[in-house]
Amino acid sequence: MSKQELQERALKAGGVSYEESLQATQMVPTMFERMGQVDGCQELSRLFYNRVFDDSDAVWFLNIFSSSTKEEAIENQYLFFAQTFGGPDLYRQKKGKYTRLVGRHANYGIGHRAADHWVKHMKAAIEEHSHLKDDQQAKDALYQYFQYTAHYIVAASDYMRPDQLSGGTAIDAGRIW
Ligand code: HEM
Repeated sequence: MSKQELQERALKAGGVSYEESLQATQMVPTMFERMGQVDGCQELSRLFYNRVFDDSDAVWFLNIFSSSTKEEAIENQYLFFAQTFGGPDLYRQKKGKYTRLVGRHANYGIGHRAADHWVKHMKAAIEEHSHLKDDQQAKDALYQYFQYTAHYIVAASDYMRPDQLSGGTAIDAGRIW
């Protein structure tokens, strides 16, 4: 499966193209600046993971996160946001040269339903965020970035080799949400 075919699958599943998703990472001023720099990245991840870890109505979704602590998940995510949205390469400093976003997710049994649920929480977090809530252009760009990337992760996970995987949860191993 070529990269282009995976991009087409992600577009079909999520309705957003790779090109549309790139806007969030190429804005001037950067999304990192618009979001309020490192503190703003941290705020977004905290708002997001507060929602995820309180989501007792969707236990099937919460279970995907059962092998992580909330604080660790927040830290991994906000370091990645800082780096991805035009700030310092904090994620690389913690995790090494390769981001491997697909490989880091492929063991969790994530399907397109989980991708939609993830994006729903992220959209709500963005609406609550002190810098982003009144910045419609940033909100639109972030939605496109997250919608595309979430569905790309799902589409590409099927094609990872075993040596490209890391992380995962023991709950209902093998089941795709
Ligand atoms: C498709 C739905 C998704 C689900 C169900 C999901 C679930 C998870 C889980 C369970 C973890 C492990 C938590 C931890 O301990 O760090 C994780 C990590 C992470 N996720 Fe996601 N995720 C999804 C989509 C995304 C998207 C769209 C992004 C970014 C655009 C993202 C970025 C990250 C990052 C940076 C980490 C940390 C990985 C590491 O350093 O080990 N995830 N995700």
